[in-house]
This record gives sequence, structure tokens and C-alpha cells, in this order.
Amino acid sequence: MQIRVAARLLQIQRALVRHGLDDFIRATHLYRPFRFLFYLSPWTWFQRSAGETRGERLRLALEELGPIFIKFGQALSTRRDMIPVDIADELAKLQDRVPPFGGGIAVATIEAAFGARLGDIFAAFDVTPLAAASIAQVHAATLNTGEDVVVKVLRPGMHDVIDLDLTVLETLAGLADQYWREARRLRPIEIVQEYRKTILDELDLMREAANAAQLKRNFAGSSLLYVPAVYWDYCRVNVMVMERIHGIIISHMDELRARGANFAKLAENGVEIFFTQVFRHNFFHADMHPGNIFVQVEDPANPRYAAVDFGIVGTLQPRDQHYLAGNFMAFFERDYGRVAALHVESGWVPAGTRVDELESAVRTVCEPIFNKPLKEISFAQVLLRLFEVARRFDMTIQPQLILLQKTLVNVEGLGRELYPELDIFKTAQPILRSWMRERMSPRTILRRMRTQLPDAIEALKQVPQVLQIAIREAAEGRLTIQVKDRGNHKLREDMRRANIRRDSVIVAGVLWLSGLICLALFPRYQWFGWVQMLASIALVIRYRYVRSPLE
Ligand SMILES: Nc1ncnc2c1ncn2[C@@H]1O[C@H](COP(=O)(O)OP(=O)(O)O)[C@@H](O)[C@H]1O
Ligand SMILES: [Mg+2]
Repeated sequence: MQIRVAARLLQIQRALVRHGLDDFIRATHLYRPFRFLFYLSPWTWFQRSAGETRGERLRLALEELGPIFIKFGQALSTRRDMIPVDIADELAKLQDRVPPFGGGIAVATIEAAFGARLGDIFAAFDVTPLAAASIAQVHAATLNTGEDVVVKVLRPGMHDVIDLDLTVLETLAGLADQYWREARRLRPIEIVQEYRKTILDELDLMREAANAAQLKRNFAGSSLLYVPAVYWDYCRVNVMVMERIHGIIISHMDELRARGANFAKLAENGVEIFFTQVFRHNFFHADMHPGNIFVQVEDPANPRYAAVDFGIVGTLQPRDQHYLAGNFMAFFERDYGRVAALHVESGWVPAGTRVDELESAVRTVCEPIFNKPLKEISFAQVLLRLFEVARRFDMTIQPQLILLQKTLVNVEGLGRELYPELDIFKTAQPILRSWMRERMSPRTILRRMRTQLPDAIEALKQVPQVLQIAIREAAEGRLTIQVKDRGNHKLREDMRRANIRRDSVIVAGVLWLSGLICLALFPRYQWFGWVQMLASIALVIRYRYVRSPLE
């Protein structure tokens, strides 16, 4: 496994060098100790990229390296305010213009998936793909019943590439966890684990089709968002057939402008769709880059969004949803004390945090941006200040919220491009308030109670029996209570490491002594004495200065 990881790291390095990105990398602080690797690599000396500009070279390298890198490029491309525009323009091509695989492969994949000839499945099929992105490409087709559809076909070999890259990420996360002080707070291992789930789910197009169907149901009859219909009979794990969306890709803003689309309305609707998905439906599209968003402008004054690509969707646990809504509301009302208190209550900051100090820090971040349109807020600066506060108050990453945070960053970037005058506060507050009111309305509470009542009665019925068992076990001295918490686990881990360290010091001491004895008393076995002494030194170095992955 480690050999595969090393080979992949070399391959990554080769791609970076080939596309002339080594200068970027070599200049970064993290990579400096490994600079010599670049000079040793033969490919540094002759191979060169086909790309002309730096953006082009970066895009080509990411394309060559596969889906995880392409996704990274897509995410970067949504933040034109944070990276140079020439690079952002190039990376935007990764959203829907990645080089496709051959039409012949697509046809073979479809025929194998259905066990039928293409001509028997579709009345017409365009072998030239409409678009291609990180994990799939789509072809236009017509069903035998006459519907205009697109066929999404998974790129071949995705599982293996992604699996290997996840292993590489896991290895790097493991190293970071060992050697990086901030890892305790930023939890790289958990982040990669969370990412693994998300990206592997994306490779199952049946799952994607189900997500699409759910989202369509959630927005049935809505004038805000259109979701294509799924043709279930034509869906397999690696092939998905859905209604074809006709519209303008949202990044084609000139075209939208020429059609007279109302940009203010579009931006406001975007905010409403986001909050509706997160709070009302608790089911949100979490791959919100422009390549996946179309705009339909039949009525330019009321343009409508249409979304595609439902591979990544997010949901929140009720608890997180509750705290998140509370935080947003408190923030919109400038109630920073409440923001701080909620952070403590939810466990997002350590229990002993001083609420008044956190309140003052939150105020310092939020007050300068309050009620300002997007164009007057520097997102990068806000982010930096937030990171600072997080570090100061020892906030740990919440892996279950990362998908939402990523979506928020994408949506904000999009809103900023679309309509820089957008006032998020004014737009979002009423939406959230109406949701909160609805949640607290007697009707909703009654409905919730009605659905929970059978479970509650069932649980109540079991109380006497459980009590009886507990009393019997207590009387017999067999009652055990399991306490699980991270703090405890960490303590155990620390103790285990301390034990390993203590044991290795003892072993090293014994080896040293026996080596000495060998040298002094058995001249014929001097070499053995030296081996033992060297081994003892190696042991001390290993456990004194290096925290090994085995610990
Ligand atoms: N239903 C559709 N109608 C029209 N175009 C579509 C449809 N679904 C996808 N596309 C186009 O195909 C591109 C790639 O499909 P997508 O589902 O986003 O693949 P990936 O999962 O690889 O990102 C999209 O960016 C979009 O331009
Ligand atoms: Mg996509």
C-alpha cells in the first residue's frame, strides 16, 4: 500500500513539474525540505507542458491528475475574489469542459450496463458529448418514447483513481496528525474520512438519481428552482438518464445580460434557495459551482434556476441545524452575546470558554461588515479574521459542517459575481425568521408530537422492564456504565504513548548495558556489542525525537 502511495506522490510531482508548476510549489513553505526531490527528478530536465500561461498549465496538471484535483480546481474557480482572474478563468473550464473520454467508450459502457444495443435503448444518441466534468460526461439522446434526455456516463476507472488518492490523502492526514500541532483542532483525519464518504457516494449514479428525485419533490411547483426528471428505467450504477435542461449556464453572464435577465432577482432567489434547502428541507445541493447551474430566462424579469449534478447533497443533524439557525438569527440581530453563548452550548468551542471574551471577538469580526452589500465586504479578510478567532478560542473543526461551509463559500462567490450590490442580511433574515416562526407554530408542534407519540408510548412501555433488569444487575454487582467521550479517548491515547515511550527507554537501557558487557567481556563478539549499542541509540532517537506512526 505504501509503495502505491509513494508511486502516486511521484506521479503527482511529475505532473506538477511537467506543467511547470514546480516553481509555485518549491516556493511554498511546506515543500521546502523536499526541494531536492525536484532536482533529482530526471523529468525536471526535459519534459515540458503544452500550456502557455500559468493558468493553462495549472488546469492541464489538474486534468491530468484526475477527479479529486479537478474538483479542487472547480472549487478554487468559484472564488474569483481570492485568486488571480486569469487563473480563475482557466480553472472555470474544469466545471464542464474537461476533455471527454471517447464516445465509443461511452456507448460500450451504456450497452454493457443495459445488456442491450444502443439502438434498442434510444431512438437517437449523440456520440459527441455535450459536456464533461470531474467524474462523468453527458450525451444528448432521445428516448424511444420521444423525450429529450441527457445520458450521464461515469468515466471509466474512477473507483481506482479516487481510492488511491484517498489513500494518499489519508497518509498525509495521518502525518499531519502526528507532526502538526494544529491537527488536534483541525482534525485532518476526520476531514478526510468525511470526504471519503462524500466522494464515494458520488460514484453511484443510482444514488444521484434518488437525490435528484428528492430535490425535485422538495421544489415541486416552485418558481425558484427547476430540477430535471429522472427516468428510472434507464438508470444504472454508472449510467443515469434524465430530462435535458435547456438554459444558459450561469457563468455566461454576458448572455444572461443580453437576454435582459434580472440579476438582482437571481441573486436574491439564490439566497432563498440556499436557506430553504438548508433549513426548511434539510437537504441541500452541495456542489454549487457554476457548471452545475443553469438559468432559464423565458421570463427575464423572473428568471428561474435549474440545477444539475446531484452527486453531492448534504443534510444536517437536527442539533446542528438548530444551532446554525440560532447563530444566523442572532448574527442578523447583532446579538453577539447570543452567538457566543450558542457556540459554547453547542460544544463548537471548549466548555470553559469565557462567553464575554468570545462575544467581543465575534463583534470585532462582524460589526464592520454588518448591513453592507457584498461588494464592500472582503470575504478573504472576514475568513482570515474568523480563522484567527477560531484559533484563539481553540475551536475544533466540525467535520459534519464542512460540506455546508463549502457550499456557503461557493454560493457567496456566485452571489458576488452575479450581483455585487446584494445585501445578504436583508435578503436572508426574513426567510430565516419565517422558517423559525413556522417551526414554533402550534400546528407544527402538534404535528411533531403526533408523529413522535407512538415511539414515546413504546419507550414508556419498556421502562419498568429496563428498570427491573438494571436493579437485578446492580444487586448482583454486574451493572456497568459505559462512558464514551473524546476527552477520555485522548487521555487513553496519551497514556498509551507514554507507556510506549517508557518501555522503549527501558529496552534501550538494557540493550546499552548488554552491549557494553559484550564489548568488555567477549572480544570475539565485539560486533554484536556494537549492534546492540547502535540499536539502543536508534531506539532512543526514535522515541525521543520522532513520533512514529505506530504510536
Ligand atoms: N440534465 C442536464 N441537462 C443539460 N446539461 C446537463 C445535464 N446534466 C449535466 N449537464 C451538463 O453536463 C456537465 C457534467 O455533468 P455533471 O452531472 O455535472 O458531471 P460531474 O458529476 O462530472 O460534475 C454539467 O456541468 C452540465 O453542463
Ligand atoms: Mg458537475
